[in-house]
Amino acid sequence: MADLSARPEVTEGQQTLTKVSAYDKFIAKEGIPNITGFAVDDVRAVEVKPWARLDCLGTYINLDGTAGTNDAYVAEIPPGGKMAPEKHLFEKDIYVLSGRGATVVGDDPNNQTSFEWKEGSIFSIPINVSHRHMNGSGTDPARFLAVTTLPLVLSLFHNEEFVFNNPFAFTDRYGDNRQYQGEGRMYTGNSGRVNVWETNFIPDIETFTTFTWKERGAGGSSVMFELADNTQAAHVSQFPVGTYKKAHRHGPGAHVIIVSGTGYSLLWPPSAKVPEDVIRVDWKRGGLIVPPNDWFHQHFNGGAESARYLAFRWGSQKHGFVFDPGEADMSEKLGGAQIEYEDEHDFIHDTFQETLDKTGTKSKMADFIPRLRS
Ligand SMILES: [Fe+2]
Repeated sequence: MADLSARPEVTEGQQTLTKVSAYDKFIAKEGIPNITGFAVDDVRAVEVKPWARLDCLGTYINLDGTAGTNDAYVAEIPPGGKMAPEKHLFEKDIYVLSGRGATVVGDDPNNQTSFEWKEGSIFSIPINVSHRHMNGSGTDPARFLAVTTLPLVLSLFHNEEFVFNNPFAFTDRYGDNRQYQGEGRMYTGNSGRVNVWETNFIPDIETFTTFTWKERGAGGSSVMFELADNTQAAHVSQFPVGTYKKAHRHGPGAHVIIVSGTGYSLLWPPSAKVPEDVIRVDWKRGGLIVPPNDWFHQHFNGGAESARYLAFRWGSQKHGFVFDPGEADMSEKLGGAQIEYEDEHDFIHDTFQETLDKTGTKSKMADFIPRLRS
């Protein structure tokens, strides 16, 4: 019997394997920029370059916190322009950053549906359904941010033909055409603590009603979204002037996009020293942060108006998956992944107070942190 523990002899002409992910190979030939790093200051202002495959302008965004599980891109459609039609075997959630336009959906040219969108809309086309985005203005560009599962899907199957030209129809994900007009259904999330709106299209994320989610702290409110029966999910979170949310941690790939307000986030790995190793990211409308896998992160409203963000992320309320956030709104002391206000380092509130003092904004945190009232 052969000794399998021994390193095999190298035979003449034997080649060495080189490792590259199919995703990295794919985006290298896309011919558009790829923004990397920890956060993006303003996705509304990032530079976009001609993108031949989709007949628009674009840039990829691959931030550290995705851990290669999902990605983002910004696409800009010139005035009067139409993007190339496409279908693909990965999920894609879209947030319209500016302008207005329409999307035509359907594999059968004689049986398509369409819907109109504008700045503030979010939507998702069911996986592997043909679609085409077009600008509705002849004078202004239209720009959107997409968060997709392409890195995972393409790296796993490493076959572009399979991913981009696959005849399988996921009819179980289609839903109802009225879902493209903003109709949907409200559910209770599986924790019993959140509301979940299921649809394919939301006309305006900036004004969509949010619901109190006291477990995440300080007067904050949220609403969860299930779009196009995806494994990716979304939510909007709003927090009042003079407040901040509790720190928590979960898996990779949560793209947090600032919709309104100004403030900052603190991020640190569980093994880090607080405050020495804490990273601060200041943000405003258009900011994008992806907290790294299992890092604590905490969002602070540092401005004079309420702050709202949209998150495209793993963690569907319907489809369990390896990157589920788990009990991210429950104290670590109870087996969850959240730091309650009374357990946080004094640095957290002290820094917040210093930030507010610079603008003369009053903190409301004494209502939530007992030590501040003594
Ligand atoms: Fe989070």
